[in-house]
Amino acid sequence: MKLGIVILAAGQGTRMRSRLPKVLHTLAGKPLLAHVVDSAAALDPAQIVVVFGHGGARVPEALPDPRLQWVEQAQQLGTGHAVTQAMPMLADSDKVLILYGDVPLISGATLQALLAAARDAALALLTVCLEDPTGYGRILRGPQGAIERIVEHKDATEDQRRISEINTGILVAERSSLERWLEKIGTDNTQGEYYLTDIIALAVAEGVDVQTLTTTDAAEVTGVNDPVQLAHLERVYQRAQAEALMRQGVTLHDPARFDLRGRLEAGQDVVIDVNVLLEGDVSLGSDVYVGANTVIRNARIGAGAQILENSVIEDAIIGGQCRIGPFARIRPQTRLSDGVHVGNFVELKKTEVAAGSKINHLSYVGDASIGSGVNVGAGTITCNYDGANKHQTIIGDDAFIGSDTQLVAPVEIGAGATIGAGSTITQDAPSDTLTLSRASQESVPGWKRPVKAAKKRG
Ligand code: UD1
Ligand code: CA
Repeated sequence: MKLGIVILAAGQGTRMRSRLPKVLHTLAGKPLLAHVVDSAAALDPAQIVVVFGHGGARVPEALPDPRLQWVEQAQQLGTGHAVTQAMPMLADSDKVLILYGDVPLISGATLQALLAAARDAALALLTVCLEDPTGYGRILRGPQGAIERIVEHKDATEDQRRISEINTGILVAERSSLERWLEKIGTDNTQGEYYLTDIIALAVAEGVDVQTLTTTDAAEVTGVNDPVQLAHLERVYQRAQAEALMRQGVTLHDPARFDLRGRLEAGQDVVIDVNVLLEGDVSLGSDVYVGANTVIRNARIGAGAQILENSVIEDAIIGGQCRIGPFARIRPQTRLSDGVHVGNFVELKKTEVAAGSKINHLSYVGDASIGSGVNVGAGTITCNYDGANKHQTIIGDDAFIGSDTQLVAPVEIGAGATIGAGSTITQDAPSDTLTLSRASQESVPGWKRPVKAAKKRG
């Protein structure tokens, strides 16, 4: 059986009140449409065709994915019309699954069950029962319970509107039958649109087998129409991710205040405090602690490291047993070996730090290579930028950089060197030697502090 999948994504999404096409709005950091594409691809179909329209080329441009074929529906004349646009591309498929670019949480298990229901049937559709079915197409069943047709909310009578079972829109059809039915549907309805839903009555009239599958998980078939629904599905998704992590043994102090927009690989006994945001690919070794209000993006944190509250780490590798923060900022291309301490208000960029070194307070270190056992004093600045180019600072093992030092790059501090506090270092400093640059201190005898002049009276 060759499966073709059509994803409808041409609609405008007026209620998002946004310039961005609706299907490009993100859920857990990933476009809605990309969620659907991933669920579709997991079924291992022969092809996936996306029907785009509103927003024009912006949608295909935002998702350059070799698994996808694109077809434009220039005018949105209805869901039936949208599927018709994709049919010429599906000539080789036996079955066609219809999905929606704005229904991001549809599960693989449900789709597999729907495909199973469609194995020997010409048509199988997914329904759900809603407490408030307002706006949706209602499922009309005969006296024996068999589905007869779908009536859209706008076309329904008062009695029909009391039916709580609704059409999710997701269905699987035999390709050849679908083609035949689509040719027959018209626009004789309240909205003057080609309704895909009309194929149900056409199939029933032919006497073919039409199956329905009812999901109990309303969230997986909920479409995003406005920012409120988007936020709702974001929470549903985040909750599910948080629960999966907790079941793996991760401690989340509050799963409602944890967001993962990407993938997390976590060792044993990882503890994550509240308001933590993880993005991209993050790996946390065993016994890692992540403090409150921390953001970690595309980073690997070694076992036993402590990331204290309010730290931001991006594109970096942090060794085991490191202690970072509170209030540290680790920028891209930083690599810390084991046991490094980076304290409050320290910014590191493109810097390698060998084992056991400490940069504990108020420093900027960029484009630098720091040996092991180094102590970088409070307020140390690498002056790495001359206004045109960036330059390197190299600090050897066991060096001691006194507080409030400026290291004007390119510059090298030898192993075991000591730099006196308050120095501006513009030339290489030799190993095992004290180097300092400091105006000599002076005391001025007899100096008087100025006093305020008496104000003239007017
Ligand atoms: C549709 C169903 C309804 C179902 C509901 C579930 C029809 C006629 N009705 O109604 O039974 O309960 O979905 O949410 O199918 N789209 C296009 N091109 C078009 C029209 C729509 O790509 O010309 C896409 C939209 O972007 C959207 C999806 O199809 O993703 C559904 O369209 P929408 O207009 O929202 O259909 P509903 O009226 O909600
Ligand atoms: Ca809709």
